[in-house]
Amino acid sequence: MRAWTKEERYRVLKSAEEIRPLHERTAKSDYRQQYHIQSVTGLLNDPNGFVFHNGLWHLFYQWCPWGAVHGLKYWYHTVSSDLVTWKNLGACIRPDTEFDNKGAYSGSALPTGDSVYLYYTGNHRDEDWTRKSYTCLALLKDDGTAEKLPPLYGPNPGYTEHQRDPKIIYRKETGKYYIVLGAQTLDKKGRVIIYSSDSPTGDWSFAGELKVPGFEDFGDMWECPSIETISGYDVLLFCPQHLTLPGRGGTVHHNGYLLGHMDWESLTFLPDNTSFHVLDFGFDSYAAECAANPNDQTKATLVAWMGLPDAEYPTDEEDWSGCLTLPRELRVRDRRLIQQPLDALRALRGRKLDLEASALLPRVCEMELISRGGDMSLRLFAEESGSGGLAIVYDDEAKTITVDRSGLKRRFNVDQGEMRVRALPKGLFHLRIFIDRSSVEIFVNDGDAVFSSRIFPAEGEDRLRIEGDASLHLWELKRAVEDDFVV
Ligand code: FRU
Repeated sequence: MRAWTKEERYRVLKSAEEIRPLHERTAKSDYRQQYHIQSVTGLLNDPNGFVFHNGLWHLFYQWCPWGAVHGLKYWYHTVSSDLVTWKNLGACIRPDTEFDNKGAYSGSALPTGDSVYLYYTGNHRDEDWTRKSYTCLALLKDDGTAEKLPPLYGPNPGYTEHQRDPKIIYRKETGKYYIVLGAQTLDKKGRVIIYSSDSPTGDWSFAGELKVPGFEDFGDMWECPSIETISGYDVLLFCPQHLTLPGRGGTVHHNGYLLGHMDWESLTFLPDNTSFHVLDFGFDSYAAECAANPNDQTKATLVAWMGLPDAEYPTDEEDWSGCLTLPRELRVRDRRLIQQPLDALRALRGRKLDLEASALLPRVCEMELISRGGDMSLRLFAEESGSGGLAIVYDDEAKTITVDRSGLKRRFNVDQGEMRVRALPKGLFHLRIFIDRSSVEIFVNDGDAVFSSRIFPAEGEDRLRIEGDASLHLWELKRAVEDDFVV
């Protein structure tokens, strides 16, 4: 990809017309998704402000309008009534004040009565490019615009310039509101810091650093932290950076969680055990955000960026990149988070295909496979000869499932490793696979593990190959996102 100057990356968008030709070009790409939220132009990264309010789900994403490059970030707004079909509403929080002059960075939302408050990081840079982070507040109005309120507080001098991604939380037991933020100590260790207040818009003060015994030296920055209560467990979700983990290849940025108990009085998260669990075993997943389930407090809905920081994707050459994962239902089972596709997604199913008649694999489909035991091997987007493609292999003796994308012609992020393995001690019994034009999400054993990955099938990669004893169902899926140009 070409080199971008700072001026190009941080250019302010003055009118939609400046990017209309880019959108028109982007919309023609063979890799545009049909049921995943994706960048309207340019780059998408983290999901933000995921919330249900007055019958509507709001989901924003980090958006850099100009190309597949991290630069000036906006909050782009999408809405849905069913978490399946999404509508573009346009840029909502724009980096147009002194506090967010170099980007409206990630954050979260809080519905209160008729309003939704949006908490985000104002990424300010001085003339000499020194960074200062502000925790900013905006009020989402009925017409979809955001009215900015004064920032809640500025940078905390006890930490480096890396402090961001406010997650707003209300706790009944203390009657307080909390904002948890990702931060870096002066000696470069990842941390969560916490602010508290009696009201969402009131006076906020620094409450302290979150103590997480056993995780004092675990990566140099923790991005996008959140503390959720799901099925009676407290869950600390975060993205530790610059850390290698077994089985994660060369990837140094991870999204994972600890299960345990959160004490809001002493600001201590006591993990159940010493395991940091990876949230998604695929190649591309980061910055996950949860929304509370309005009808059932034992569950939450999770969505993540199907991408990674410091990574490149084949569509970078087309000047766009990034999509979100499908929203997933999140629960705790056997002391692990499990992620399942939402029931509502069944509404996307179209024609059921008879696989014997054709081994051509549609570019947009859902597959369900029920294993009768033994080894299993699937190749998605193999060549006509049967070779290549994305290999999903279950080894019954080793009790492992492996996803390997090295067989696809368009290889990328090779240095991060092209193979991911997950142990399945109880064997493989079920797979549900969602394929969109440039992604695959594999749900293993009813949500026990999920692998999310971008893939970019090329000319001649259009076959499905299966070996093993299983019954297989395949449906075409309907379109659920439109490439509407709304800015
Ligand atoms: C995570 C992240 C956040 C930040 C945002 C900027 O991917 O780096 O920490 O707020 O992206 O786009």
